[in-house]
Amino acid sequence: MGGREELQAMVTGFRLAAALSVAAELGISDRLVGGPLSADELAAALEVDAETLNRLLRALSSVGIYAEADGGYANTALGEWLRTGVPGSLRPLARLTQDSAIWAAWGNLMHSVRTGENAFRALHGMDVWEHRVAHPEYNEVFNDNMAALSSVVAGAVADAYDFSGLSTVVDVGGGLGVLLAAVLARNPELSGIVFDQEHVVGRTAPAGSLASVAERWSFATGNFFEAVPAGDAYLLKSILHDWPDEECVTILRACRESLAPGGVVLVVEGLLGLPGSEAEAAFSDLNMLVLPGGRERTESEYGLLFEAAGLKLTRVIHTASRMSILEGTAGEEEAVG
Ligand SMILES: C[S@@+](CC[C@H](N)C(=O)[O-])C[C@H]1O[C@@H](n2cnc3c(N)ncnc32)[C@H](O)[C@@H]1O
Repeated sequence: MGGREELQAMVTGFRLAAALSVAAELGISDRLVGGPLSADELAAALEVDAETLNRLLRALSSVGIYAEADGGYANTALGEWLRTGVPGSLRPLARLTQDSAIWAAWGNLMHSVRTGENAFRALHGMDVWEHRVAHPEYNEVFNDNMAALSSVVAGAVADAYDFSGLSTVVDVGGGLGVLLAAVLARNPELSGIVFDQEHVVGRTAPAGSLASVAERWSFATGNFFEAVPAGDAYLLKSILHDWPDEECVTILRACRESLAPGGVVLVVEGLLGLPGSEAEAAFSDLNMLVLPGGRERTESEYGLLFEAAGLKLTRVIHTASRMSILEGTAGEEEAVG
């Protein structure tokens, strides 16, 4: 019977996740950019306990995040991904679990499995969005993480869709607007609106955007369960997977109501059932169950949501990234399921 060691590493995976989160929070990889440093030097700069920091670094070096060098520690290729601001940085993702409410919600997975309920809300008495309003420091890390994750796929998504003939693209729940910036950069005829909650919305184009993107950029704040700004192309990236079916239909209906004739609703999600990303989609599905209370879906499940909101699923475009684009146009309204 093989595989015992492999399974043991999986079972104790939470230890590694916790160690990575502390390293990311402390910004160790940023400190090592100039070359190796000893645990004492790092501890002095970070104002933490030197002997304990050495134990953390030894553990992370044992799995290849750092390397012991010149009596100190250096970044490896893996450790470089925990640097601030490198494109696709995993530092914000690793920092998320410094929010003990997130860590505790995953510890409450059993509750979800027993009841089907959202673990976060059951434990904390509020949803993740209310929690982030109450904790701006964690809200900022979450938004940075979404921007970093989106920066890895935005180009592929923007490349995969032909926006010609469209004029105003609204990035619904667009966060800091990383996807919108990529779409505007490739389509000089488009103007764009990033729409999100007051305490989240990207008021200006992300740093590094073209000047022409900044000129065609505007923002709006509000609640996507009530209304969204008028446009002829709605982008909803990583929005519907946060919500149960009924809420998804409400969001899609709000888009349909403001959609200009001939316009499109573009849902951008990682699909369940696509070869090559099974584990990522399945564990993202559990993450949606535990944290926001949503779920990942198959192409046909998204089709049912579109129908229930009076939209027709006209095309599914698989991009060069793990995200697919589900294109909806105005259709007839029908019941879910
Ligand atoms: C998972 S994030 C996706 C962000 C961005 N689309 C991306 O993929 O990087 C979900 C977004 O929905 C926004 N959101 C949540 N509830 C909302 C509401 N009721 N109205 C508008 N935006 C909302 C959040 O603030 C957050 O930016």
